[in-house]
Amino acid sequence: MTTKAAGATTSRPRAAVILAAGQGQRMKSHTPKVLHRVGGRAMLDHAIDAAQAVGCARIVVVVGAHSQGVRVHVVERLGEGAIAVQDPPLGTGHAVLAAKAALKGFEGDVLVSYADTPLLTATAVEPLFALRAAGADVAVLGFDAAQPGAYGRLVLAADGVLTRIVEAKDADAGELAITACNSGVLAADAGLLFDLLAKVGNRNAKEEFYLTDIVGLATDAGRSVRVAFADEIDVAGVNSQSELAAVEASFQDRRRVALMADGVTMTAPHTVHFAWDTHIEGGAVIEPYVVFGPGVRVATGAVIRAFSHLEGAVVQSGAVIGPYARLRPGADIGEGAHIGNFVEVKKVKVGPGAKANHLSYLGDGSIGAGANIGAGTIFCNFDGFDKFETHVGEGAFIGSNCALVAPVSIGKGAYTGSGSVITRPVPADSLAVERGLQAEKPGWAAAFRERKRRAKGLA
Ligand code: UD1
Ligand code: CA
Repeated sequence: MTTKAAGATTSRPRAAVILAAGQGQRMKSHTPKVLHRVGGRAMLDHAIDAAQAVGCARIVVVVGAHSQGVRVHVVERLGEGAIAVQDPPLGTGHAVLAAKAALKGFEGDVLVSYADTPLLTATAVEPLFALRAAGADVAVLGFDAAQPGAYGRLVLAADGVLTRIVEAKDADAGELAITACNSGVLAADAGLLFDLLAKVGNRNAKEEFYLTDIVGLATDAGRSVRVAFADEIDVAGVNSQSELAAVEASFQDRRRVALMADGVTMTAPHTVHFAWDTHIEGGAVIEPYVVFGPGVRVATGAVIRAFSHLEGAVVQSGAVIGPYARLRPGADIGEGAHIGNFVEVKKVKVGPGAKANHLSYLGDGSIGAGANIGAGTIFCNFDGFDKFETHVGEGAFIGSNCALVAPVSIGKGAYTGSGSVITRPVPADSLAVERGLQAEKPGWAAAFRERKRRAKGLA
């Protein structure tokens, strides 16, 4: 009964419909559910990433009338054409049907997925297209559930053909005992998908138009429906804050495993936190309790020491960061440079071999190769209204506790005396000192103590 779908080859065009019209009330948050982040990236963007990774050129996100924030997010990334509104939400089948107009003229395979399933990868989805290419009219992504609970159950025939999906609320005892469950992800020919959806009714326990009903309708029409199985974790959905945290934990585990497979050394990987796009080359070392926000690149041979926090920063090979360092967006730390404890760097290019080892704020500007920034140096970059830059030349030496008041530049090889407040440019190879002259009063301290003791009768 398996009929080869016309034109089903691996090169068929692909589109995706991503469902995001649910209310997400169980999150108890003002932020729409699908904009909550996993690995620093909105769950919706993870879903779009997966669709793009399997080559879906057209992507439609089905949003509810209530979620203006979601709409804006989609329009910013994919444009107005990627929006389909489902109002009111009457079920998953009704939601996919809402995308029909946005996919007008599209011929090929449609992938349906959920915006609240951020761990779905291209690897998990690709087998659906393989099933399509092998002749299945509809391909459903299933998983073996540890606790089938409220999931839809996959009613499989002996030959592995899927005959029907029954929702838990509509299932009898025998069906509830099935552990093969529906992930919600499926792929089908666009024309067939919308034809089947047009026939879906809502005579069921929830009085909703179930997407899952297309399986029974396809079977009745003599079409073949096949299942590919994913790991449960790949299709984990988020409905509550604790599920979000659980998915985040799984995401972090995946990143750790992947980075270690690439040759990154971590002494306590479970304490290191990554963003979705953290890029670390093999041969880098990450000590315990390091947090990576989005946009960080670390080159081979670099060491990120314990308790450091990095976001939007580049660390070149052989550089040493921390312990207890903070790199903010625009920090670009050159080869072999050192950024030490309690040093904050923002939007500063630090040259090769330069050092800022202790207690500094370095914001807006540049530090030349081999320069030494003394303990307690502050780039005074902000006057309450505007930001200004500080440029420290190659090989310059900034004495401890200097305030460099921007805009200002320190020439190559120049020195600044400790404790100076530098407000004017310092020429190359010169010394700038700005502080009161030191005076000594011999014997003053001894005489002072003597006077005080006598006054208090301690003599
Ligand atoms: C659905 C499946 C079930 C599967 C489970 C996996 C159906 C009928 N059931 O059940 O077989 O095991 O997912 O998690 O498809 N949505 C809309 N508009 C709607 C309704 C839902 O956009 O009108 C979106 C939601 O935002 C969500 C997704 O579709 O992203 C799933 O909806 P949900 O109500 O959670 O489906 P389940 O009952 O969990
Ligand atoms: Ca659900």
